Amino acid sequence: MSEHSFCRSCGNKLFEVVNFGKMPIANAFVHKEQFKKEYMFQLMAMNCPRCSLFQLYEQPDPSLLFHDNYAFLADTSRVMQQHFSLLAEELIKDFNLKNDELVTEIGSNDSGVIYYLNKSYKHTNHLGVEPSKNVCEISNSKGLRMKNLFFNSNTASNLISEFGKSKYFISLNTLAHIPDINSVLKGIHDFLTDDGIYITEDPYLFDVFNKVSYDQIYDEHVFIFSVTAMKNLCDKFNLQLFDVKKTDTAGGSMRYYITKNKTTKISRNLVSYLDFEKKNGIFETKIYSTFRKNCEKSKNSLLDTLTTLAEKNNKIVSYGATSKSTTIFNYCNIGTDLISFITDTTSTKINKYSPGVHIPIYDYEYFLNNLPNYCFLGAWNHRKEISIKEKEIFSKKGKWIIHTPEAKIINDL
Ligand code: TMP
Ligand code: ZN
Repeated sequence: MSEHSFCRSCGNKLFEVVNFGKMPIANAFVHKEQFKKEYMFQLMAMNCPRCSLFQLYEQPDPSLLFHDNYAFLADTSRVMQQHFSLLAEELIKDFNLKNDELVTEIGSNDSGVIYYLNKSYKHTNHLGVEPSKNVCEISNSKGLRMKNLFFNSNTASNLISEFGKSKYFISLNTLAHIPDINSVLKGIHDFLTDDGIYITEDPYLFDVFNKVSYDQIYDEHVFIFSVTAMKNLCDKFNLQLFDVKKTDTAGGSMRYYITKNKTTKISRNLVSYLDFEKKNGIFETKIYSTFRKNCEKSKNSLLDTLTTLAEKNNKIVSYGATSKSTTIFNYCNIGTDLISFITDTTSTKINKYSPGVHIPIYDYEYFLNNLPNYCFLGAWNHRKEISIKEKEIFSKKGKWIIHTPEAKIINDL
């Protein structure tokens, strides 16, 4: 565990944005015997007034988060799989990727962009770097070349010796997870060829603010990037951020295109996002205090909604045992008094209990046999997919509860 009053990138003193209180590890789904041994830490969001990097105060040791039994498997979401597949297509068609050009992906989970490059385009010159052993083994079994390690500037130099430099470097929903950001960016800088391109994507700070999706804040998301903060990071490592692309995945994300070639032209889209963030107060304190107040409002409205329904003997189930819902349930103190159970399709989560508040997790079949009156959409970031799946099933029988920006009951997703 490490506590940070100072910015992990520039060393400036941070200011507190929201304190969510004591929190368990978001993806640490537990058996009953483990209830008393749960690891807790202080979940507090901070911001750096110098480089605008939004970050956690305290983060549990990464080995507690990304280990041999990491519960998150990317291939449980068809939308995410399609997203990876589209980036593979972009590399082939727009970037004209050649088979002798190495593509490295960190945090490639059980099937990232390299999987689709290999499967759909027979691009074999790839490398996946993944710290969780179980997901690494799944990738290996799919024929991908994997290294089971944490990427940083030290491991990068070993990888360069073994594989040479990389023309493309990818990290989707990964950079925001790595606390030693300076070491990672140095490693990427060293690893890239002189004309190499780094493509990275993570949840976007202005989506979190605008949607009041405070549940994007949990142990793994040590940073929530803005374009401004990403530009500052790139400048520090002599990298050029040259384009950005807004994406809908993971609850609203931003994709960043970065190169070592400083003569690369900067896109108009990038300039307009920097301008947008400035106009919307990224350098002022008001936007952060407004977010804090909005988090409290969202919490109170969700508690009011659930309590009112529970008092009328309605059965409420949470849909999707997400890491995000760990923040919601623990911050709002929502337990089995309000939510009967959580339904999820991931084998590693089923028949365990949610972290901290210990709501049981049952499989989809159990859900179908025990349909409730109300479903809280824990997996709101997969809303489109779930809406299609449940159109003729749950949506015909009960109502949905969503919590962003404030709690609301709706008939259909
Ligand atoms: P995530 O937000 O951390 O990606 O977690 C999403 C969880 O939601 C994951 O455990 C799988 C689950 N899920 C379902 O149970 N049913 C579904 O239809 C979808 C899309 C996800
Ligand atoms: Zn800073």
